[in-house]
Parts: sequence; structure tokens; C-alpha cells
Amino acid sequence: MAKVEIASLSKRYGENFVVKDLSIEIPQGEFLVLLGPSGCGKTTTLRMIAGFVEPSSGQITLGGRDVTTLPPWKRNTGLVFQSYALFPHLTVDENVAFGLEMRKLPAAERRENVAEALRLVRLEGFGERLPRQLSGGQQQRVALARALAFRPDVLLLDEPLSNLDAKLREEVRVEIRELQQKLGLTTVMVTHDQDEALSMADRLVVMSQGEVRQIGTQRDLYERPADRFVAGFVGRSNFLAGQCEGDGAFISAGGLRMACTAGVRGKGTLALRPEAVSVGPEAAHLDNSFEGVVEYISYLGSVLDVRVRLAPQDRIIVQIANRSGEVLPKMGDTLKVGWPATSGRVFAEES
Ligand SMILES: Nc1ncnc2c1ncn2[C@@H]1O[C@H](COP(=O)(O)OP(=O)(O)O)[C@@H](O)[C@H]1O
Ligand SMILES: [Mg+2]
Repeated sequence: MAKVEIASLSKRYGENFVVKDLSIEIPQGEFLVLLGPSGCGKTTTLRMIAGFVEPSSGQITLGGRDVTTLPPWKRNTGLVFQSYALFPHLTVDENVAFGLEMRKLPAAERRENVAEALRLVRLEGFGERLPRQLSGGQQQRVALARALAFRPDVLLLDEPLSNLDAKLREEVRVEIRELQQKLGLTTVMVTHDQDEALSMADRLVVMSQGEVRQIGTQRDLYERPADRFVAGFVGRSNFLAGQCEGDGAFISAGGLRMACTAGVRGKGTLALRPEAVSVGPEAAHLDNSFEGVVEYISYLGSVLDVRVRLAPQDRIIVQIANRSGEVLPKMGDTLKVGWPATSGRVFAEES
């Protein structure tokens, strides 16, 4: 397993940067996730690490070796695609052995690696089957086994779970993560799914339009989002438009004065997590305390999403835990809501 270093990596098609000036060091054994909306450059980044896309500029180092200009087969990275890309006419064994044949491994060693890889993904005894005789989850595990079979220095996963149904996806998440930890595999996974990203990563890179918005742990991103994009993409946020006063005060479009983290000045946005808002009597003692009218309720089982109108221009979603026996708000109720100043993060309007 190896450390991966990416320095000022860019990819341009014509005038268009699809990845721009990406730099990150991935320590040996880390599970790093690239998270961002569709089209933000995640796959391109992964394919540059694997060697299938040539960077326009920048450098990629694997285990201290500069691989920027090396072809894929000289890099020892294992890549798993969203579409499993198994050969339909080859057996499981033959599919897993495919990369090994390309690498000219002796037959005995090949058989050993295939058996070991299938054991790791818990598919011993499936070697003779064809892909169509397997479930989607099993096919994805074959793809994973194929990537593991030649003992890659780095495992690269491109939306590996998106073809699986919701229930299976959660199981395979845990399987991949446990395997990665057991083997100490340096892994880069790409996904647009924040739940998947948050549940699996050691560290995340949030990307938008080819650029890195923030790099950090789940907690860094959730509690200290660098900008409005991250505040909306990782977890949920209410966004209120208004004026930042720069001294820890924010005046909303509806004219409400809100205490917030001090910072920027001028036109901006206050971001507030739905779960950071308290309701009822306890709300009265917080830095921000308002009364609003309940406009809409989504009953989600363990929680309720309640939309509260604080002023005609200011509406927030408040998440309330559904504790048994408690009286729940109804549409049209007047509700006290409140939150501490530290929960309101302000961002200057983006240019
Ligand atoms: N070979 C190519 N030529 C031109 N544009 C491309 C090429 N490959 C990808 N792109 C563009 O680069 C952007 C990023 O693509 P991609 O890396 O696949 O994004 P993601 O994986 O985050 O959805 C997209 O706008 C896509 O259309
Ligand atoms: Mg992609």
C-alpha cells in the first residue's frame, strides 16, 4: 500500500477546465472520498490517478514514485467502475484473473491470487459461474475481487454502489469499508451521494465545477463548512438571505436581527442546520429566539421536518425529534424557535 500525492493537477478539454489545480496528499491506508455533484470532475480525477486520462498539468506520485506519465498497467492501481464491466462470457475466475494475465503472472501464482481475492469478497465457490448467474451485489464483489487480485498499491472506486438497490448498497458499504480497513488499502472513492461519502470516508474532498471547495473530515465539513456550497451539499442547511453586519449580527430579508458567528460584511447568507433549532420554552433562552407560524409538516418517523415562517421573507425548516407521547406541532400553530449564535454561519455573497 502506498501514499498518494497529487500536486496542482488540472485537466482541460479545449478552453474548459474539468479539473482545476487539485492538490492533496493521501496517507497510506486512508479512505478518501471525492464528493460532488454530477459533472464536477470526479471521474476525470480518478482516471488521471489510474492513468487512463492524461493530465493537462500537475503531478501524481504513488508511494514516492512519479507516475504522471506512466501507462495504467505500470501504476499498480485497482479500478472498480460503476458498471461492473465484467466480461459476460468469462467465468468469475477468468474475470478475476484477467488483470493478472495482462500482467504476465505465472499460472500458479495467478490461481492463488484469484482464490485469495474471491475469499476476501466472500465468493469462494463461485469461480465457475458466469456473471449473469450472480446477483448485482455479487457481480460488484467480483469486480472488487478483480481489482484486489493483483494487490494494488491504491484502490480506486468510481461510484461502485450506484447500481445496487438501497438496502444492498448499505450492506456493501460496510463490506467494502471493513475490507479496506483490514487490508489497510489506500483508497480513493468517487461518489455524488453524501450519505455514502459520510458513512465510508476517513476524509472527504468536496468538489464543484472542477475545483476543490473543502478538504476535511466529516466533522470539519459539517460543523465548519468553508462556503455556502459545502453547507448545502454536506448535511442540510436553511439559507436566509440578508445583510451581514460583520460584528456577529445578521439582518434577514424579513428584517429580523440574528446573532451569528462574526465574520463577513455586506450582502450574504445565513446558514442554519434544521437540527440546530430548538422549539418550545427552551428556545426562549437562546441567543436567537423568534415566534413563527407552522406552514408545513413532514412526518418522517423518527423526526419531523417543520417549516416555520418567521417573517414573510424568512422561512426555516426545523427538525424535531419525535419522542413518544409528546404533543407534536400542527399546521397553523404559533411556535417558539431558537438557536445559539454559534449555529448561524454567515457567508458573503459569492461572486
Ligand atoms: N473526453 C472528454 N471531452 C470533453 N469533455 C469531457 C470529457 N470527459 C469528461 N468531460 C467533461 O468533464 C466534466 C467532468 O466529467 P466527470 O469527470 O465525468 O464528472 P463526474 O464524474 O464528477 O460526474 C463534464 O462536464 C464532462 O462532460
Ligand atoms: Mg463520474
